[in-house]
Amino acid sequence: MASKPRKRLSSTQTSTIPSSSEKQNINNNSSYSDPSIAPPKWGLIFKLSLFSIPPYLYLLFYHYPIEQDIRRSILINASMSLVGFFVTVKLIPVASRYVLKRNLFGFDINKKGTPMGDIKVPESLGIVVGIVFLVVAILFQYFNFTEDSNWLVEYNAALACICFMMLLGFVDDVLDVPWRVKLLLPSIAALPLLMAYAGHTTIVIPKPLVPHIGVEVLDLGWMYKLYMGLLAVFCTNSINIHAGLNGLEVGQTVVIASAILIHNIMQIGASSDPEYKLAHAFSIYLAQPLLATSLALLSYNWYPSSVFVGDTYTYFAGMTMAVIGILGHFSETLLIFFLPQVLNFLFSLPQLSGYVPCPRHRLPRFDPETGLLTGTKDGTLVNLSLRFLGRKSEKALCIYLLGFQAIACSLCFLLRHFLAGWYK
Ligand code: UD1
Ligand code: MG
Repeated sequence: MASKPRKRLSSTQTSTIPSSSEKQNINNNSSYSDPSIAPPKWGLIFKLSLFSIPPYLYLLFYHYPIEQDIRRSILINASMSLVGFFVTVKLIPVASRYVLKRNLFGFDINKKGTPMGDIKVPESLGIVVGIVFLVVAILFQYFNFTEDSNWLVEYNAALACICFMMLLGFVDDVLDVPWRVKLLLPSIAALPLLMAYAGHTTIVIPKPLVPHIGVEVLDLGWMYKLYMGLLAVFCTNSINIHAGLNGLEVGQTVVIASAILIHNIMQIGASSDPEYKLAHAFSIYLAQPLLATSLALLSYNWYPSSVFVGDTYTYFAGMTMAVIGILGHFSETLLIFFLPQVLNFLFSLPQLSGYVPCPRHRLPRFDPETGLLTGTKDGTLVNLSLRFLGRKSEKALCIYLLGFQAIACSLCFLLRHFLAGWYK
């Protein structure tokens, strides 16, 4: 069967598309079809784990009096996630060879004009992360839920959404769906949860607004489901369009997933309501494998990227965080964790709405002489940061942006701390 060239060649790079005879040669050439990618960046993962795991264990075991049952489930889930991490690290190079064989690759646009810009970087490696995540999450049910557990239906509906989203992300990577259509894909993938959701559809009105609205709790009915759908559309697309620097797509997910974990532990520790605790424990059971498998991908995707994540990953990660926020009942907090994504979305609105022309890639300008990026007029947080901070290398800019993400998450914790009691 003749293989077709896939997407991923930016409009500025059409001249590098191999002709069909070249492609045939490429596919017949075993040295091409079996290249190996650079090894994982273990140093980065070690440093990140050193910063995050001890404080997490401290919160889980010492700081908060958490029931043995919940602790046990969290630990089982954490151990399974750890296995998931190693399996993902092992499988990414294998999958890379397969995607390259099928011409699913991209060129690193921010290295154009240097030898690294000519390397075919395997695309859509989010597929490995998604599959390992789903296996961990599905197997975990065996250890945690009883047959009559109320949670089982929604847990599986959440997994169906994540799986559906991953499929549509992969379809997008392979078929290159027009981007106005792909904005809507998450609303289709969110259907399993919207249909199965039998939880409450009420929202607690912030105390300062109660006198104006007249009730403390408002039942939104079907509008609550609409809100859930919109949240899924926002989370997935906002991760996908805050992208284009090595490590940024996965890095932002790693930071947000860590904040979600800390938030959940704090809520479980501070509450005495068993249902409330279960909702937050439920979030942890999905956030831990998301974090572990994403770290494995980051070890390859960090600057200089040896693999790209694809829309498979950005959609998968966004949908997973959306269902975590919906079923954990903390979507407002989640949206504050998403502050950089909200800003990037607002800056992007003129181009997304078609008011200002939107090119296929809205990336900064790379200067191969200096290796520095300059911000362009395209409305993204990446470009605006460059215009504000001055020219930066790709790696430095990514670290700045992830730092900003971490600051947004810390701000959210501060805000919750100071507004507690007054706001809700
Ligand atoms: C979104 C953005 C687009 C941005 C792209 C980069 C919008 C509306 N769309 O599009 O502006 O250019 O993400 O991910 O804001 N790439 C790199 N370096 C990286 C990551 C990706 O050069 O670190 C390039 C590669 O050529 C890769 C391609 O971007 O193949 C992936 O783009 P894709 O995810 O398909 O773009 P979109 O999600 O459609
Ligand atoms: Mg993308």
